[in-house]
Amino acid sequence: MGKIEWTPALSVGVEIIDQEHQKLISLCNKLISNVKGDKDASMITESFKELRAYTVYHFDNEESYQKKISFPEANAHAQEHAKLKQDVKAFQQSLYREGFISEESVIAFLKKWLINHVLYQDMKMKTFLKLQE
Ligand SMILES: [Fe+2]
Ligand SMILES: [Fe+2]
Repeated sequence: MGKIEWTPALSVGVEIIDQEHQKLISLCNKLISNVKGDKDASMITESFKELRAYTVYHFDNEESYQKKISFPEANAHAQEHAKLKQDVKAFQQSLYREGFISEESVIAFLKKWLINHVLYQDMKMKTFLKLQE
C-alpha cells in the first residue's frame, strides 16, 4: 500500500506553505510506516504527537499568512483548521480505544484529512493571490 505523495498539483504557489505541506506529508508517511507491520505502540503514539504538533504550527502560520494578505475567507478557514485539529485528535483517540489500526484506514484518513484540505481549501489562497496580480 502506498504512501501519500507530494505532487505539483498540491502547490498553492506560496513557497513556505508548500514546504510546510511537504513536511506534513512526510510526518503522515512516518505515521503510516509506524503503523505498518504492528510496530511498537509507543512509536505510533510518538508519530501522532509529532504530526499533531506540526499541524498546530502549520495552521497557525497559515492563519497569520492569510491575515497578512487579507484573505477574505480567513475566518472560515481558521474554523476548518479547528475542525481538522479535532478530527485528528478523535482519530488518535479511537486508535487508543481499539488498540489496533490498519495501515489502510490510517492512509485513507490522512489522505482525506490533509490532501482534501490542501486541494480544496488551501488552494483558494492560490486563486485569491492570482486575482491580486
Ligand atoms: Fe489550511
Ligand atoms: Fe495548509
